[in-house]
Amino acid sequence: MKTKHVLFLTLTGLAVMSILSSFKKQTPFDLDASITRGKDVYATYCQSCHMDEGQGVEGVFPPLAKADYLMADTKRSIQQVLYGANTEMKVNGTVYNTEMAAIDLKDGEASDVLNYVRNSFGNKGKAVIPDDVKAARKK
Ligand code: HEC
Repeated sequence: MKTKHVLFLTLTGLAVMSILSSFKKQTPFDLDASITRGKDVYATYCQSCHMDEGQGVEGVFPPLAKADYLMADTKRSIQQVLYGANTEMKVNGTVYNTEMAAIDLKDGEASDVLNYVRNSFGNKGKAVIPDDVKAARKK
């Protein structure tokens, strides 16, 4: 291949890539779609403990429904989902000191399930995007 052609192909490739990446940036995050996907993630990974209405089990599995602890700190809630916890926490006035194991979720799955729980069971919260999850991962 002639150098001219290689250069042409490289430049075309770069142009396509930059158009694609600017398109990606401009597409607004679709919170409703994320919540819908998150419902399935919840059913698979969370519901067995936190229950179908997010009510949990008093003293054992803390509630996500109208949960002050969940909604108080977005980064902490992302890390809770990724890494679990084995610590004392007070949720809606009840102290829990049990253990939740880490859950192996992709950035998108974690953002979806958080958007679901943060916007269900009487909660209302801003979107958590996959980049927020990436940023909250412990290095
Ligand atoms: C095996 C049971 C179990 C599963 C499955 C589980 N959790 Fe938990 N979760 C717990 C327990 C137990 C705690 C309290 C841990 C502690 O005391 O340190 C907790 C705490 C939490 C908290 C912080 C307290 C609160 O209620 O706000 C959040 C948020 C949470 N879990 C979300 C999730 C999400 C989302 C999933 C699914 C991706 C999930 N959990 C899966 C048992 C579980």
